[in-house]
Amino acid sequence: MTILIAATGWDGEAWVKRIREALPGRDVITTERDGTWGGNAADLGSVDHVLAWHARQDVLDRVTNPRVLFSLGAGVDHLLSRKLPAGVPVVRIVDPDLTARMAEYVAWQVLHHHRQGAAYAGLQRARQWKDLGQWPASAVTVGLLGFGILGQAAAEVLKKLGFQLGGWSRTPKPVQGVRNFAGAEQLDDFLAGTDILVSLLPLTPDTTGFIDAKLLGRLRRDGPLGGPVFINAGRGRTHVEADVVAALRDGRLKAASLDVTEVEPLPADSPLWDMPNVVITPHIAAESSPDALVQQIAEQIVAFERGEPLKNVVDPQRGY
Ligand code: NDP
Ligand code: OXD
Repeated sequence: MTILIAATGWDGEAWVKRIREALPGRDVITTERDGTWGGNAADLGSVDHVLAWHARQDVLDRVTNPRVLFSLGAGVDHLLSRKLPAGVPVVRIVDPDLTARMAEYVAWQVLHHHRQGAAYAGLQRARQWKDLGQWPASAVTVGLLGFGILGQAAAEVLKKLGFQLGGWSRTPKPVQGVRNFAGAEQLDDFLAGTDILVSLLPLTPDTTGFIDAKLLGRLRRDGPLGGPVFINAGRGRTHVEADVVAALRDGRLKAASLDVTEVEPLPADSPLWDMPNVVITPHIAAESSPDALVQQIAEQIVAFERGEPLKNVVDPQRGY
């Protein structure tokens, strides 16, 4: 049984070490840091399980008989965008460690905007001791666009902080203390009540370019923050970056936090870098930690080989 770590831009060796510890006796091989395969071509032909993060198509093409394709992240767009062998299950990560990291990130950014972090940092630089006033969390509605595993976990943390909450999903997801909105017909109501929009949407054909000028223009404008705030920790290509920049420039958006961008890394000449009302983080909202995640992948492999069903299998038609 051979396991391949096919990852671009990541340290495959850290995953190899953990997989070998969790599944002693298996052959575990990895691509180079740039995603290329530097080993024997025959080794790829014997791979049973692929653990992928932005795997290169030429590497996947040489894995002729995979049994399972595991995403090393919660998102699977990086795999489903490849040409994959028909009928091979694609499994994603659902894990308390990753989920907690995302809830932390969302709380961090929501609090940054709610407590006027950028304005106070500016005052500190200017050596000014000035009270900008404040309002309670209960006066602010955070709307989670994409209300799945990560959106619901973020909502639980924000609930404890006292924010009003809305969650928008494709299908109804009733959660106590959160106003749930589902489908296109309830999107306007969701947006009209939202002060801070947090997107945790997966990237699919339906969500590509979904957050555009029209959508941003429907957010609530008369909340205590003085204008709507947009936080994207899902996928960059779900927003139209030119529309986000324009909205930030003309005040339709008060501020933004972008962990994900249309092109990653964010190009050096992007206007977003210099905007005082924008927080940029380099796709680190919820990192996949080999220490935390390998155990569940190893358990899934063992269970699958015993003939048990896999968990967290995605629907390739739906795209997530
Ligand atoms: P889930 O599949 O659990 O949740 C996705 C949510 O989006 C669901 O509520 C789903 O609706 C909703 N959704 C999907 N498509 C549509 C649509 N067309 N219209 C309305 N709602 C839609 O995913 P997770 O919460 O686990 O992860 C979300 C995303 O976060 C990942 O796909 C990944 O892209 C991103 N991510 C980013 C990280 C980072 O570091 N920046 C780290 C980890 C993940 P429904 O509930 O009805 O199915
Ligand atoms: C993920 C990610 O999908 O890190 O898990 O973006």
